[in-house]
Amino acid sequence: MMIPKIGEMPPHSDIENIQIEIPLDAIAFSDLELLGNGAYAPLNGFMGREDYDAVVAHMRLADATVWSIPITLPVSEEVAAALTIGQPAKLVYDHVVYGVISVSDLYCPDKQREAQCVYRTDDLAHPGVEKLFSRPAMYVGGEVRVIRTPTQRPFAAYYFDPAQTKAQFQARGWKTIVGFQTRNPVHRAHEYIQKCALEIVDGLFLNPLVGETKSDDIPADVRMRSYAVLLDRYYPKDRVFLGVFPAAMRYAGPREAIFHALVRRNYGCTHFIVGRDHAGVGNYYGTYDAQHIFDAFTIEELGIVPLFFEHSFYCKKCGNMASTKTCPHDASDRLILSGTKVRQMLSNGEIPPPEFSRREVIDVLIAGMKEENV
Ligand code: ADX
Repeated sequence: MMIPKIGEMPPHSDIENIQIEIPLDAIAFSDLELLGNGAYAPLNGFMGREDYDAVVAHMRLADATVWSIPITLPVSEEVAAALTIGQPAKLVYDHVVYGVISVSDLYCPDKQREAQCVYRTDDLAHPGVEKLFSRPAMYVGGEVRVIRTPTQRPFAAYYFDPAQTKAQFQARGWKTIVGFQTRNPVHRAHEYIQKCALEIVDGLFLNPLVGETKSDDIPADVRMRSYAVLLDRYYPKDRVFLGVFPAAMRYAGPREAIFHALVRRNYGCTHFIVGRDHAGVGNYYGTYDAQHIFDAFTIEELGIVPLFFEHSFYCKKCGNMASTKTCPHDASDRLILSGTKVRQMLSNGEIPPPEFSRREVIDVLIAGMKEENV
């Protein structure tokens, strides 16, 4: 085996000779894929201390490039003790080696600070904070190389790396593309803001997040079926492209909105939709905090134009979809249902009104719930 120089990636053929293994959890596994395929550019590895500290404190990497969410590789103290700075280690998920990291940093983060800065709370009832604290205590930094991606996975046909999405957009002749992040089925409010955006750009990249989500979010396979049926019946085929975003959901609200926008830029989008309480959970963030945070950056440094939408709904008096920006009527005229309320309705066998969600989507959700309960 050729001995690589300190901090250098070993040649591909030598990877199997590396003895040290780092086990990945589901979040780190999805991050590895996104680091490897350019979705997280300019990052090329898990963050070392300098970048981590700068991101936590200022939403910028150590070189001042905008980046809002720490991309870290947590390991136990036992695994950390077996690592040597400058040496490579295999990255293993479910007994399979997916990549290699050239270990350049090993540090003990201040998770309390990370929680307060990134999530704006250290409340363990917040699913992102709970996840942060439940992951191992030490962080490993270093450049990564992906050596394989999963051969079999659900909805494999919808996985595209940034080079592929850019090629797809180009093949369609789109010059302006709006990215849409979602962890939900596309209800009428989502459809409304997507189509408003589509009025001013060439194409819509529907990019649902399918990485780890909290247990009461609707499973990705059910959502994927709902997107397929909706796109088939209600969207012009030459204006929409569906591809999954394999990242884990952080529920970091404002900070995650910036992260979501940067990644969609990397996939080739020119615009990105940020609606009400983007990537929020519970009442941790104000309705428009995820829009206000964009004031801290210029469009040039983001490399993508955020499109902000106010709270949208069906208004009975207007007789159509509208938002707080366009509808003058009272709350009592507006049809607003929370995700929790919709789930309650579905589990009681009630059908949410068509003004809230199209029947085809509801049918997929009901079928999904039945499968879950078998
Ligand atoms: S998220 O966690 O992925 O942001 P969700 O799938 O609900 O959750 O939202 C997807 C996008 O649609 C986000 O930009 C969100 O702000 C926006 N959005 C969701 N519901 C509404 C609504 N009723 N009005 C305006 N924007 C909305």
